[in-house]
Amino acid sequence: MEIKKIDILVVLAAFAFLTAVSLIALWLVGNNAIIVTMILSTVLVLLIVFETYRRSGRVRDEQTSLLHFAHRENECYYRQTEALFSIFTVLKPLIPFPDTRGWAASPDFLKKLVELILGEKPEYILEASSGVSTLVIAYCLKHIGSGRVLSLEHDQHYAQITEDLISSHGLGDYAKVVYAPLKDAEINGKMWLWYDLSLTDIDTPIDLLVIDGPPEKTQRLARFPALPLLYKNLNGESTIIMDDGNREDETEIVKLWQGEYHDVDCEYLEFEKGAFLLRKKK
Ligand SMILES: C[S@@+](CC[C@H](N)C(=O)[O-])C[C@H]1O[C@@H](n2cnc3c(N)ncnc32)[C@H](O)[C@@H]1O
Repeated sequence: MEIKKIDILVVLAAFAFLTAVSLIALWLVGNNAIIVTMILSTVLVLLIVFETYRRSGRVRDEQTSLLHFAHRENECYYRQTEALFSIFTVLKPLIPFPDTRGWAASPDFLKKLVELILGEKPEYILEASSGVSTLVIAYCLKHIGSGRVLSLEHDQHYAQITEDLISSHGLGDYAKVVYAPLKDAEINGKMWLWYDLSLTDIDTPIDLLVIDGPPEKTQRLARFPALPLLYKNLNGESTIIMDDGNREDETEIVKLWQGEYHDVDCEYLEFEKGAFLLRKKK
């Protein structure tokens, strides 16, 4: 517990006050001043003890909450590391992977993609926003030996980076990135921004729709158009997964979708960034 300058000043002031009162008492009541001095000294000591006790309690509380925070952080790092291990154990990448987390999907989300793809063996996957997730999806398809992923990317620079990643990992047979800038799209009389779908050839029903874009700064409820614009392309029974479920926008988007599409069930996944897993019934 730290002693501050103000503490020393307060103690010195109390000492000066005690001395002054004792001297005045000596002058006024003679030897009986000792009683006044003792009472005042006792009160002073009790106040110091009480304040010390109060402060040490506060320090203890702060230390406990810091420990809880550190424990939660450690738990999170451990979960992400564990998820990465299980992804790489199954997928065995040819060359090192780019970083996950931050702007990219977190390992727990990527692991869920692996589980979904290996479990459901989707033939056609559409992804909104490219990056590490595209690589993971393509490795899964290579692992099961069939299927394709088409990844929509609104940013030409990152479209090229993901395209290069795909070719350096030898996954060109499974994944394709389409540079599709955001453009106006009308949904129920309201204008939204969405990937320019006229630049794509969505030629097969979508079995798995992975939504991790456009970035939230592009517009409010940036990912809302995904379902209204792609619902007609979904296979009878299909799966939709959306990252960043712990953001307010994504929570609102799912509520709006649920009000509109009654054949879609929804589950919230407790991931680092949260996620929504939706299943469209036949
Ligand atoms: C939320 S990120 C998701 C990217 C992808 N789904 C993933 O998990 O890797 C959305 C956007 O970030 C951008 N992006 C891709 N690579 C990036 C990088 N290395 N640094 C910053 N932004 C990047 C792309 O424009 C992408 O559409």
